[in-house]
Amino acid sequence: MTNNIELKKNSYFASCPKGLEEFLDYELAEFGTKDRNATKGGVNFTASEGAALDSLLGSRIASRMFYHYCDITMGSEQEFFEMAKQVKWEEIFRVTQSFKIHCLFGQGPTGMGVKFKSPLYLSQLLKDSICDHFREQTGIRPDVDKYNPDLEILLHISATDHDRYVAKIYFDLAGFSLAHRGYRLKSVGAPLRENLAAAMVSLVPKDSHLPIIDPMCGSGTLLMERALMSANIPPSFMHLRKKEVSKRAVWNLEKTPFLKQFFAKKWEKKMDYFSELAKEGIQKLGSDKFHLIGLDKNNFPLKEFKSSLSHCNIKGSFDIRNMDAFNFTPDFGEGVVFINPPYGHRLGELQETEELYHQFGEKLKKDYKGFTAYILAPHGGLHKKIGLRTSRKIPVFNGNIECRILEYKLY
Ligand SMILES: C[S@@+](CC[C@H](N)C(=O)[O-])C[C@H]1O[C@@H](n2cnc3c(N)ncnc32)[C@H](O)[C@@H]1O
Repeated sequence: MTNNIELKKNSYFASCPKGLEEFLDYELAEFGTKDRNATKGGVNFTASEGAALDSLLGSRIASRMFYHYCDITMGSEQEFFEMAKQVKWEEIFRVTQSFKIHCLFGQGPTGMGVKFKSPLYLSQLLKDSICDHFREQTGIRPDVDKYNPDLEILLHISATDHDRYVAKIYFDLAGFSLAHRGYRLKSVGAPLRENLAAAMVSLVPKDSHLPIIDPMCGSGTLLMERALMSANIPPSFMHLRKKEVSKRAVWNLEKTPFLKQFFAKKWEKKMDYFSELAKEGIQKLGSDKFHLIGLDKNNFPLKEFKSSLSHCNIKGSFDIRNMDAFNFTPDFGEGVVFINPPYGHRLGELQETEELYHQFGEKLKKDYKGFTAYILAPHGGLHKKIGLRTSRKIPVFNGNIECRILEYKLY
């Protein structure tokens, strides 16, 4: 390969919802990763194979985890096309396997949109380079599969000085969102994204044995993530179980020759280690060690919550009640409230939602003395209706909605 293609080794990027970069950075540090650099929407890092796999199977905050394969320095679309053709694609995946490319433009001094037509166009260019490369070598080309490819490529373009650009090529280690733990059978209403819920519940040390209440728990994401964290059940537990039953490749890194070979020495051992943690944790939850209370006035999402628990074989620890949050008064002196109340985004709902926030603030003041409450609320006027002094505010995004995790110490 020419000097303009720099092969990487032990270099990774983990993406996460906007606002969770610091949470992810902290978590990746615990897995023994190095040289971390948090950017908008993720963290770049280096890691040994073991630390990378620990992060893949153990991260509660990451959305996706990518192996950074190479950087291509170029000045034009044509140059990129020619350079990308020189990558030894046949060492990465087989011509009979399928692939998919997603391209993102990063920040840069010169407008990327002026130099390059669009991210979609660059994805197509890369696809053509890969197909031409294989055709020249073998006479045939691999297929693109948008839904279930064997290799997912992330192409990230950023500008350097002197009108030169860097195209970073990454391979998705899982090929699915790590936030989709697999415990939901289907989703109703507006379930919280699992990694955002995990970040919120991580604000209380995982070895705290205080009772946890979600008074508007819906399908139970906050309580579920808290349970997994407290019992040390890895977020990948359902994927590990699927692997154990099916014996088939679940993660992309098990499918393509390059990644398979790269992680070969550690992969089986890591899967065994995390599967063992999952089994021990599920047993711990069954022993009623943790006190997790979920309320909702609507029975529909509660049924989903209960189906998730039985789908995962989780018994014990949860006390789920179909009741109005305003009719519940805790009969213990200390605890933690995690709550994601309705946002009232639909037309005509705002006034009702403002009243709900106000009434809930009053309820906390009156019946939750000695508790700490964490409320995930949209940024704007709504949270002011709670009428309590925050001890902490953390900006996060729930999808495209700018929110705050608000902490209240209730005396
Ligand atoms: C945004 S959803 C919570 C979603 C939940 N975090 C999840 O992951 O599925 C808000 C929930 O609050 C419930 N709710 C609204 N008012 C309530 C009240 N007064 N008492 C109990 N639940 C209430 C709704 O039924 C809805 O399920």
